[in-house]
Amino acid sequence: MGDFKVVRRVALVTGAAAGIGAACAKRLAQDEVMVGVLDLDEPRCAATVEAITSTGRKAVALGADVSRRDQVQRAVAKCRETLGPVTIVINNAGVTDFTPFDQVTEDLWNFVYRVNVLGTFIVTQEVLPDMRAAKWGRIVNLSSSSAQTGSVNMTTYSSSKGSIVTLTRSLAQELGPLGITVNNIAPGSIMGTIMSEANKYRSRLSPEELLKALPVRRLGEPEDLANACAWLCQESSGYFTGQTVGVNGGRVVS
Ligand SMILES: NC(=O)c1ccc[n+]([C@@H]2O[C@H](COP(=O)([O-])OP(=O)(O)OC[C@H]3O[C@@H](n4cnc5c(N)ncnc54)[C@H](O)[C@@H]3O)[C@@H](O)[C@H]2O)c1
Repeated sequence: MGDFKVVRRVALVTGAAAGIGAACAKRLAQDEVMVGVLDLDEPRCAATVEAITSTGRKAVALGADVSRRDQVQRAVAKCRETLGPVTIVINNAGVTDFTPFDQVTEDLWNFVYRVNVLGTFIVTQEVLPDMRAAKWGRIVNLSSSSAQTGSVNMTTYSSSKGSIVTLTRSLAQELGPLGITVNNIAPGSIMGTIMSEANKYRSRLSPEELLKALPVRRLGEPEDLANACAWLCQESSGYFTGQTVGVNGGRVVS
């Protein structure tokens, strides 16, 4: 159970049809948070919504491309009408890329930045009025451990996630006086589509070698992320802002 004693909270989780986003949506619902489950199209969100509503909690499916303001505006409006003002946002939708730097085209660069960076900017701007009105808010952005270390053939992706880290730091300072915290989670080696893709390209390491390189000797599960996400969204985390939370099995230590 979370510690939301005062007001019933509504969260918008992007990229919540699968992987980490779905796990965060389900975990927040356990804390009695109502959840707008957003992904590229509504039908994709059905399984996550069903998993939440079958436990007696409230959730709504929202179809939108986070990099399209008109679509995000419609989705946020539907979320508000169905569940109420949005005071928690998890900017999780993201795309990855493994193209060697000299082969990266401007179209590819722009695509990755549009989803990972512009999408976070648009979604956050669209829900901010609700947080301002409530004088309370929780913003959690998904960055990446590759933003902390850099990664071969991931200049586009890792630099876009670096933007998320610095956006988090600046926004935390801007919104702190309003009762809104802003943090980012930097996952590493979490099972999901992105990790499967990464493994295809990291053929230098066998799965056994990959595990040996991780201090906890296992890959992460989306639920590992979701637990950190849930804590960042609770009332009791109000003194924690502008931070990068590494959920990475010890891949990056600081
Ligand atoms: N899995 C990892 O090890 C790992 C590591 C570092 C960072 N991350 C970050 O965590 C987040 C989730 O990763 P995952 O492994 O669960 O990925 P995933 O590919 O399993 O899920 C991403 C979801 O985002 C959705 N999405 C993509 N583009 C979208 C758009 N334009 N608008 C709306 N939704 C969109 C997809 O449909 C998908 O459901 C991403 O931001 C990713 O960069 C993951």
